[in-house]
Amino acid sequence: MPDASSFSSSFSSFFDRAAGEWDERPTFRQLSAVPRRLLRAVPFRADQHWLDFGAGSGLLAAAIAPRVRRVTALDTSAQMLRVLDEKNVPRVRTLRADIFDGLPDSYDGVASCMALHHVADTASLLRVFHRHLKPGGLLALVDLYREDGSFHGDKLARDVCHFGFEPDALRALAQEAGFVDPHFEEILRLEKNEGRIYPLFLMQARKP
Ligand SMILES: C[S@@+](CC[C@H](N)C(=O)[O-])C[C@H]1O[C@@H](n2cnc3c(N)ncnc32)[C@H](O)[C@@H]1O
Repeated sequence: MPDASSFSSSFSSFFDRAAGEWDERPTFRQLSAVPRRLLRAVPFRADQHWLDFGAGSGLLAAAIAPRVRRVTALDTSAQMLRVLDEKNVPRVRTLRADIFDGLPDSYDGVASCMALHHVADTASLLRVFHRHLKPGGLLALVDLYREDGSFHGDKLARDVCHFGFEPDALRALAQEAGFVDPHFEEILRLEKNEGRIYPLFLMQARKP
């Protein structure tokens, strides 16, 4: 595992600074509807080990944990993971690492909420997910549909790499990475910036 100095400093510092009041942010409050819908849509099983990529303060990890054997909550931000650790959620283990620096396990599923758009190389990220999934493993990714860049006010400070995603383009990248049956549904509509609506997708796919 890498040491702290190898993490991108501006990146970690934005999320580290935001961690203390993350769960109070208006966007996070709206996002709290995602886990209930995810649990309805994805066939979690009690014997499974899931990875929550970019887990932050644990929005998904805490919701998935009661349904599975274990959740690894992965994040580069020490402060985000500290907030999650303080929640003492049974069956959740935090792991501070950059996903591109390697993972200690293979998983039955990878879930993620609003982290994909912070990674520049989506194709490589999908290949990493694929490599660390067991055969038959599931992908359940939540992020913004393509938007005009207005969603994040301070894009540079937050290391925003993508203004959401086009389903056709993301589907093609998932298939190139080796996933089958990638499919999309709208999971939530976020309201921000004086009533503007930003829909979020759930993309599911499977490693054969
Ligand atoms: C917008 S936050 C979302 C947090 C949480 N999933 C939520 O919905 O509240 C994105 C998170 O992804 C993490 N992240 C981004 N790139 C990462 C990487 N390469 N490896 C691990 N974590 C990463 C960030 O540190 C940040 O906590």
